[in-house]
Amino acid sequence: MIYLFNNYSISDYTLLIVFSVLSAIAETFLILLPKIGGVSVSFALTFSAILLTNPLTASIISAIGMILRCPYIDGKGRVHIFNNPIHKTVFNVSQYIINASISGLVYVYVDKTLDFGFQFFNPIASAICLIVYLFLNSLFIASLMSILLKERLTYIWKNYLLGFVNIALVGLLGIIVAFSYDSFGTTGILLFFIPLMFARYTFKLYLDMRKNYFETLNVLVRAIEANDPYTSGHSMRVSAYAEAIAKQVGLPQSKIDLIKSAALLHDIGKIGIDKNILNKTEGLEKEELERIKSHPEIGATIIADLSYLSNISDIIRHHHERNDGKGYPDGLSYDKIPLETSILTIADSFDAMTTNRPYRASLSLESALKEVKNNEGTQFNPDIVDDAIIALRKTFFKLSEEKV
Ligand SMILES: [Fe+2]
Ligand SMILES: [Fe+2]
Repeated sequence: MIYLFNNYSISDYTLLIVFSVLSAIAETFLILLPKIGGVSVSFALTFSAILLTNPLTASIISAIGMILRCPYIDGKGRVHIFNNPIHKTVFNVSQYIINASISGLVYVYVDKTLDFGFQFFNPIASAICLIVYLFLNSLFIASLMSILLKERLTYIWKNYLLGFVNIALVGLLGIIVAFSYDSFGTTGILLFFIPLMFARYTFKLYLDMRKNYFETLNVLVRAIEANDPYTSGHSMRVSAYAEAIAKQVGLPQSKIDLIKSAALLHDIGKIGIDKNILNKTEGLEKEELERIKSHPEIGATIIADLSYLSNISDIIRHHHERNDGKGYPDGLSYDKIPLETSILTIADSFDAMTTNRPYRASLSLESALKEVKNNEGTQFNPDIVDDAIIALRKTFFKLSEEKV
C-alpha cells in the first residue's frame, strides 16, 4: 500500500466514489452459488478501475466496497461491519487490497512491456492480470478453508482454481464497464448497472424457486420413507440410477431433471397404503396385492394436484408398466410408454433387486444385471437395456463407495 501511495495518485475522484459505492452494492447483493464460489462481481469494478486509472484507485475501491457491504447470510440476517467480528473484516479487506494491488501492478507492468497502442485496454495484460487475481484470491480462500476444515491446502485450492470461467466472465464485465465509463461517464455506468441489478433480482427469484422446489421434494421423500422404512434410501438411489441411465442414453438436461424428480417421488403413492401391508414378510392376500398395486395411481393423483410437479405425474403413474404390456395400471406396451418412464422402470427394478426386501434377500450386482438383460423386451424397453447396464454398473459402485 505504501508503495502504491508513493508511486500513484488518485486522479479521478468521481470514479473513485461512484465505483466504490457500486462495489459495495455488488458485494451486498452478491448471490452465493453453492460449489461455484470464488470471485465476486465487485471485482468487475476493481478490474475496470485498473484499466481506467491505476492500482492505487482500484485497491481503494475494492477495500471500500468490502468495508461498506452488508450481504444477507442465511440464518444470520444482514451482516455489516458493525455486527461482524473485526478480525474477519480486517482479513477480508487486506485480502482484497493485496489481490487488487498485485494484479493491478502486474497489469501495469505487462502493459508497459507489451504495448499494443490501444487507449486503455491491453488484452494480454488483462488476461495475465485476471489469472494473477484468480491465483491470489483462490489461494487466500483455500488457505482459510484448509485451516477451518483441516483439509490439505492443495486439495481445496485445486477446486477453487476451477473458477477460471467465473473470472473470465467477471473480467469481460469489467471491460464493458470500463468502456461505458470512458464513453458515457457516470451515466454510462448507471445505465449499465441498473439493468444488471434487475437481472440479478430475476436470477435470485429463479434460484429461490429452485430451492423451494427441491426442499418440497425432500420433504415428500422423507414422508414416503417414514411409511416404509424397508425402502429407506430407495428413492435417492433410484434417482441416481435413473439420472445415470438418462445421461448414458444421451437425453437433454431438461429431460434428465424431469426423470430425477419423478424418480425421487415415484413411490409417493405408498403413503396411502397401510404400513402393515407394505412391511408384510409372508405371502400377500390377493386384495392386499391389489392395494399395493394401486400406488402408482395414488401417487400420480397426489402429484397432479401440485402445479409445478404435474409434468411428472404420468411418469409416476406408469412406472410399473412393462414393455410387453403385462404391467399395471394401464397395461401399456413398448410404443405407448414414454422413454422417461422406461428409464425409471429399469432403475426402480434394479434397486429392488440389489437391496434386501421383506420377502427376499438382495441379488449380487452381476446377477441383477443379468436379470435386467434377461428381461430385455419383456419387462424392459430393449432400446435402452445395454446403455442401462453400463450406467447401472458405474452408479452401483459409486453409491457403494459413498456408503463406505
Ligand atoms: Fe413402485
Ligand atoms: Fe420403487
